[in-house]
Amino acid sequence: MEQKLQEQNTNGNLLGTITSTEGNGSGSVLLDYLKCASVGVKIENLKRSFGDNYVLRGVALDIKPGETVVILGKSGSGKSVLMRHIIGLECPDAGHIYVAGEDINNPDFKKNHVIAMVFQSSALFNSLSVSENVALYLREHKIFADESELKQIVSSALDIVGLQDKNDVMPSQLSGGMKRRVAAARALVMNPDIILFDEPTAGLDPMMTRTMGDLICDLKNKVEITQIIVTHDIDLAFYVADRIAILNEGRILEVGTPEQIRTSVNSATIDFIKPQFK
Ligand SMILES: Nc1ncnc2c1ncn2[C@@H]1O[C@H](COP(=O)(O)OP(=O)(O)O)[C@@H](O)[C@H]1O
Ligand SMILES: [Mg+2]
Repeated sequence: MEQKLQEQNTNGNLLGTITSTEGNGSGSVLLDYLKCASVGVKIENLKRSFGDNYVLRGVALDIKPGETVVILGKSGSGKSVLMRHIIGLECPDAGHIYVAGEDINNPDFKKNHVIAMVFQSSALFNSLSVSENVALYLREHKIFADESELKQIVSSALDIVGLQDKNDVMPSQLSGGMKRRVAAARALVMNPDIILFDEPTAGLDPMMTRTMGDLICDLKNKVEITQIIVTHDIDLAFYVADRIAILNEGRILEVGTPEQIRTSVNSATIDFIKPQFK
């Protein structure tokens, strides 16, 4: 693994900062702070409709602790709806989601677990600087009594996402890719059990797309956090995933390693990924 990371760095990817202890190297402060327990996720027969639009029709998926799973689906296939259910923003018509064996809709679930999401829109507060956006959760939950400790964690999270020089910048001065990396830093300082990404590469140029992919790979390798990514970006899926799940017509059609999906004989999977492998 170390060798792979070193190779990535020599290849000049932009996430040298995350893996390198050179530079200011403060990323390691956050890595020490993250006490990631690597939890599993089980989605059972999840159903959700809006009027007569049956979006989720019995989604079932098992995600192992520490796994990075990409759910691939076309636009409008219900990826964002599924994410909103996993984070507990919406309740299903039927079915369950278990994290570390606990139903996320149990009243005590939020006391025991944190699920963080990097929204497609980034959802930063425009009136707060980058570092204040990242610090917000820590302040609201009074996680650090000591201001200098809080600042260290925030800087470290920004270092991890390659934005160590952007502490005092306002969100309006950032590109879309940078905003999404701030959103990832904000998610990380929550010390989540799971991190979810909704369309992390949507609207990004190829360079930023690669950087987001590298960030997800580094979180997988360095933090070993369970990650669920929903996207229609087939290249990203094959770049970062331990396993890929194909969401089609409200169900998980097929789950497998990138190699299993690439060589799938399922006609819907073939139709979906074919343009990439012609
Ligand atoms: N709050 C809502 N009310 C009504 N329909 C919704 C709502 N949220 C999503 N939908 C519908 O659910 C379907 C899936 O949406 P979405 O999950 O956003 O797709 P995507 O895979 O592109 O993320 C779409 O047909 C969308 O119109
Ligand atoms: Mg969506």
